[in-house]
Amino acid sequence: MKEGHPKGLYLLFFTEMAERFSYYGMRAVFTLYMVAALFTMESASEIYGYYTGLVYLTPLLGGYIADRYWGNRRSIVVGGMLMALGQLLMFLSASCVRPAIYEADGVIDPAVDNHLAVLLMMGGLFFLILGNGFFKPNIATMVGSLYSPDDKRKDAAFTIFYMGVNVGATLGPLLCGIFEGDYLNPSRFKWAFLCACIVMIISTLTFYLLKDRYVVTHDGQPVGIKPAHQQRAVKHELSRSEKQHIAVIFIIAAFVIFFWAAYEQAGVSLTFFADQQTDRHILGWEMPTSYFQSLPAIFVVLLAPVMNLMWDLLGRYGWEPSSVMKQAIGLALLALGYWFIAWGVKDLDPQVKVSMWWLTGLYFIHTLGELSLSPIGLSLVSKLSPKHLASLMMGIWFLSSAVSNMLAGQLSTLYPDGSAKSLFGWVEIRSLYDFFMLFVSMSGIAAVALACISPVLNKMMKK
Ligand code: PHE
Repeated sequence: MKEGHPKGLYLLFFTEMAERFSYYGMRAVFTLYMVAALFTMESASEIYGYYTGLVYLTPLLGGYIADRYWGNRRSIVVGGMLMALGQLLMFLSASCVRPAIYEADGVIDPAVDNHLAVLLMMGGLFFLILGNGFFKPNIATMVGSLYSPDDKRKDAAFTIFYMGVNVGATLGPLLCGIFEGDYLNPSRFKWAFLCACIVMIISTLTFYLLKDRYVVTHDGQPVGIKPAHQQRAVKHELSRSEKQHIAVIFIIAAFVIFFWAAYEQAGVSLTFFADQQTDRHILGWEMPTSYFQSLPAIFVVLLAPVMNLMWDLLGRYGWEPSSVMKQAIGLALLALGYWFIAWGVKDLDPQVKVSMWWLTGLYFIHTLGELSLSPIGLSLVSKLSPKHLASLMMGIWFLSSAVSNMLAGQLSTLYPDGSAKSLFGWVEIRSLYDFFMLFVSMSGIAAVALACISPVLNKMMKK
């Protein structure tokens, strides 16, 4: 057995870390920027929902083009440049924005002309959405391609790679957040966008300069170059087992939708909860609401090595769960996290604030679930995809995130605000307890169903 990991993994780790820094750094201040001068909160939430949804839709296109024409390397460089351009447009947007809101009412002054800022912002979002499509599926595909198909180190490789994602996701908001502006000085946000832009350029440039040296297989073959024409010409028909593997990816992707739709409440309803119902004082200092959003990323970084070690230990005794089972465990942990907080807020008076340990505990449990599901899922897709469709299948995997992000926004509208709400007319949501229990049932049912069909899926995954 080969020890350690190829150097290419660390280049991909760094490239992805810098890109996620840029993505999450921009995302942390994005809605604040919009409501500071350009849009009402409602419109800002909608734009935000479409943006985060579409960002994960374009990987389908980016994956297809990479498999068919460009290969992963070129797609990443193009995607990186498009995203840097997107951040630059955000920077320009915030550079020309003018204060437009009166303190008293938050109403936008129609006399202030911010049309150019809006136009530049929309252009920026367009390039970020497009660029992410070329970048995200291809970088993950290359992680898989560094290893031979049956290499046992793949799960660990994706967990390491996933740490890169989250180091970036932790640092981005912390740094870009320093440059938060407000309605008096909305232009200050430009420095946050510029940070995101510079880091994106560094990411792309580093990858561009070092890819030929490091992104190679153990026997020195380049990874992620332009697909060979002959290979495409012979591979038309998919074999029976390839079709079954693709079916497994689709089935698991469908289950994973329920994971992210509940998990991504972090940015919406759980943020309302942090804001309105959580006592955020530590030794007399009140922690900003948005800091809670960096918790899952911090926990991923801390817990990823522990999880890797645990799978390793279990593996030694032959007890390591199958990859499908790990997805079911992830869903179950998500349900457990919501159950924990539902229990904490049961019979809670709307005026009372709870200790921040409830939300911290929920994120801790959710992160264990995320680590069981997300990196392993990436690894699974990489193992199951026919080679010539690898990036496209990665795009399909991200498609479930696109659906989830849009669904997360819809589910968050059920967050209790005094009026009784119902889901499709059949589940009444009257309290926070009801709201959280909705996610317990949703992910709990998905976990049990996936665990039940896992033997069938495992059989389909055999060669
Ligand atoms: N934190 C993860 C990331 O940004 C969330 C995610 C998982 C996004 C799976 C898309 C797909 O990579």
